[in-house]
Amino acid sequence: ALSGSDVQRLAGVRVLLTAGPTREPLDPVRYLGNRSSGRMGYALAGALADLGAHVVLVSGPSALAPPAVAELVRVETALEMHAAVTARARDCDVFVATAAVADYRPAEPAGSKIKKGAETLEIRLVRNPDILAEVAALPKPPFTLGFAAETNDVEQYARGKLKDKRLDMIAANRVGGDSGGFEREENALLVLWNGGQRTLPMMSKVELARELAVLLAERYAEHHA
Ligand code: CTP
Ligand code: CA
Repeated sequence: ALSGSDVQRLAGVRVLLTAGPTREPLDPVRYLGNRSSGRMGYALAGALADLGAHVVLVSGPSALAPPAVAELVRVETALEMHAAVTARARDCDVFVATAAVADYRPAEPAGSKIKKGAETLEIRLVRNPDILAEVAALPKPPFTLGFAAETNDVEQYARGKLKDKRLDMIAANRVGGDSGGFEREENALLVLWNGGQRTLPMMSKVELARELAVLLAERYAEHHA
């Protein structure tokens, strides 16, 4: 629950946040996508704005109504998201990566609709840039919060990402099957940082976002103390 002291505790703090899925074109009418709805990211962007932060939301395609934020930048592909973030990363205090960014994109999207022919079709994929890792590796990086959606060994993979990407915090959740996560209204998170951790139990993504926003504000304040 929010206490009185939580109100406006991020006043004047500039937050850049990615949300939603990306779409990687195969041809002019088809894409590779994923099951991210953008719900967690939108809720977190709204919760951070409620704490007084100046929020710039870089969003992949989502059917949801966007939260009230200072700026909304709509993108489609991982490369577009990368460009939008790169142009703004030096001007933020906190970077939050909730987006489900495609790790790979078709190497050469077809210029016209791919026609059906042979029984099998091979599409070559190439790696996309890791937006979060790049921001965390800036000479003067903002405070970084990443997410880790895992189907198994949640804590171990999340700790690996916290360390390898040199993040300040990571929020990990189990996805797939009957757990929360993608395409769900509810979720639970294991939040890790250097020197601590907190479990946020299964609750609505809106409530979860509020709790996570307060935790982020606490860690951010500590970081600057
Ligand atoms: N992320 C990003 N850019 C990418 C891929 C991931 O910014 N190209 C961010 C996500 O927004 C998330 C974090 O990195 O905050 C972890 O994403 P995840 O897919 O869980 O991890 P990866 O590092 O991509 O590793 P893998 O998919 O192999 O588990
Ligand atoms: Ca990934």
